[in-house]
Amino acid sequence: MIKVNPENPEPESINLAARVIKNGGLVAFPTETVYGLGANALDEKAAFKIYQAKKRPQDNPLIVHIHSPGELDKLASNVPRTARILMEKFWPGPLTIVLEKSGAVPYGTTGGLDTVAVRMPRHPVALALIRESGVPIAAPSANISGRPSPTTAGDVYEDLAGRVDIILDGGPCEVGVESTVLDLTGEVPVILRPGGVTREELEAVLGRVELDPGLAEGQKPKSPGQKYKHYSPKARVLVVEGPIEAQVRKITELAKKLTAEGKKVGIMATVQTRGYYETGCVLSVGDREAPLTISSNLFSVLRKFDKLGVEEVLAEGIPETGLGLAVMNRLRKAAGYNIIKLE
Ligand code: TXA
Ligand code: MG
Repeated sequence: MIKVNPENPEPESINLAARVIKNGGLVAFPTETVYGLGANALDEKAAFKIYQAKKRPQDNPLIVHIHSPGELDKLASNVPRTARILMEKFWPGPLTIVLEKSGAVPYGTTGGLDTVAVRMPRHPVALALIRESGVPIAAPSANISGRPSPTTAGDVYEDLAGRVDIILDGGPCEVGVESTVLDLTGEVPVILRPGGVTREELEAVLGRVELDPGLAEGQKPKSPGQKYKHYSPKARVLVVEGPIEAQVRKITELAKKLTAEGKKVGIMATVQTRGYYETGCVLSVGDREAPLTISSNLFSVLRKFDKLGVEEVLAEGIPETGLGLAVMNRLRKAAGYNIIKLE
């Protein structure tokens, strides 16, 4: 684990990590969304190590990270004009675009698909590492598959100590949920995974954007990652959605009941509501008026409940506007779709 200055990473540290990438090794590094587990995207053997380290199913493709928009044309073919507009507007940043892949990208990186997901992150450490490595870097979130994504180097260490060559510690991640994955291979752009760039922001630029129906359950999802159990702490999670007063009432009632049954209960509340709860271990995930505070804390709060030995987490839902869409997508998955909807 090497500490790096998040604004101005030390060249010696970046150089060391870049050598690991060039030699086919694994480097965990910070991005503005979550920590990534990186390897040379053009080297199938290196990409394979990512799957092993994360215990990730082999058909779940990796996102390829680049340091400049110009690198895209080496990785993708038939790039539509929409892609150029989006790159101009949202790169560097938390938007991943899915395009037809070029011959340069091995199937070992795309999970056997003919498409490739590409993103240019904005974190200075990520950008420096990719540039210095001289190759695009394939990087999923740096967690063991199925666990909450890591937003600090400590989270990465918890999951991957001994399974990765270097962890670059650039402090906590800003956005806290992963990038938005947008499929540009069809007529209309489709959001396969909501994330750091909001649906509203995309619509403002593109007009029409669809949400993958596979985001609902039961269908074969186009984004292969969507079908696996995800983001789960060891505790059981129940999400309570609906008007805020009703949420507080229901969670209070359930917390009392579960506590009476001898369960260790955790409540994921917000700045606005935490004062109302008297039972259970209450953690505020952030401010309802500032969704970025919620997205940036979501995964670390889920991990915190595990550290506290909580067995049952009762979580408040938030409105699905802006970053709220990505937050609720992750939270519902963490709950295994164990949800109560109130009127
Ligand atoms: O913010 C992020 O995107 C982070 C940081 C490290 O950049 N990375 C990340 O990677 O979240 P990962 O592997 O945890 O999630 C990638 C998602 C998965 O749901 C995967 O199925 C989808 O992107 N994906 C990757 N390539 C795809 C493709 N060719 N077609 C459709 N979906 C794809
Ligand atoms: Mg992930």
